Amino acid sequence: MQIEKQKLIYKGKAKSVYETNDADYLILHFRDDTSAFNGERVEQLGRKGQVNNRFNAFIMQKLDAAGIETHFEQQLSDDEVLVKRLQMIPVECVVRNFAAGSLVRRLGLEEGQALTPPTYELFFKDDALGDPMVNESLSISLGWATAEQLAQMQALSYQVNDILKKLFDEGGLMLVDFKLEFGVYHDRIVLGDEFSPDGCRIWDKDTKKKLDKDRFRQSLGDVIESYEEVAQRIGVPLN
Ligand code: TMP
Repeated sequence: MQIEKQKLIYKGKAKSVYETNDADYLILHFRDDTSAFNGERVEQLGRKGQVNNRFNAFIMQKLDAAGIETHFEQQLSDDEVLVKRLQMIPVECVVRNFAAGSLVRRLGLEEGQALTPPTYELFFKDDALGDPMVNESLSISLGWATAEQLAQMQALSYQVNDILKKLFDEGGLMLVDFKLEFGVYHDRIVLGDEFSPDGCRIWDKDTKKKLDKDRFRQSLGDVIESYEEVAQRIGVPLN
């Protein structure tokens, strides 16, 4: 069946989600919108939609090849991708290899402190509440996921970390932390959403230069140029 884009069903901060003529598939449109502080600051950054779409396609295919089931089906255009329609679990799974961001603020740690072994945290996906930290017990009690699903999400998040830490390391980069979102597809836990420099922290190994969305959050400039540098260093085809 020829897949056709139909109505817009959800507009997120950086992506729009469209239904298709097949109930099992959606089309995601990566926009140039870049937001920080739960949508308080939004700017259009030229090329971001294209760069993140290509970056995400490359990473999702690497993970699929390594045996992690993802929703990725096919890149459709510069800024659109065909994905499986998941029943999303409203929890963000964060793996950290080095302290940064909210962990530094919460515990007064030094940015860049190694976390050995890596840590794993859950946040409730809710902009109005500022994505508060939650745990497995709450997620089960509130019916967001079962204990078994949460255990699978944790194991998959650590597997993703092992695969991607190595990939970034080979490009002379540190994978500081990242966020994943999972959903259910025909009773299986499947990786959804996106993996791009918008949802992770990546530093140059030698200089510790930030090359991710912190450049936007902290007004450091060269945001998309940095995303492109990371893409080029890990082998993402950008043209
Ligand atoms: P944090 O330090 O702000 O908790 O974020 C940890 C990592 O997860 C960082 O790479 C940013 C990413 N993240 C998102 O992309 N979206 C979110 O809503 C949250 C909570 C984290």
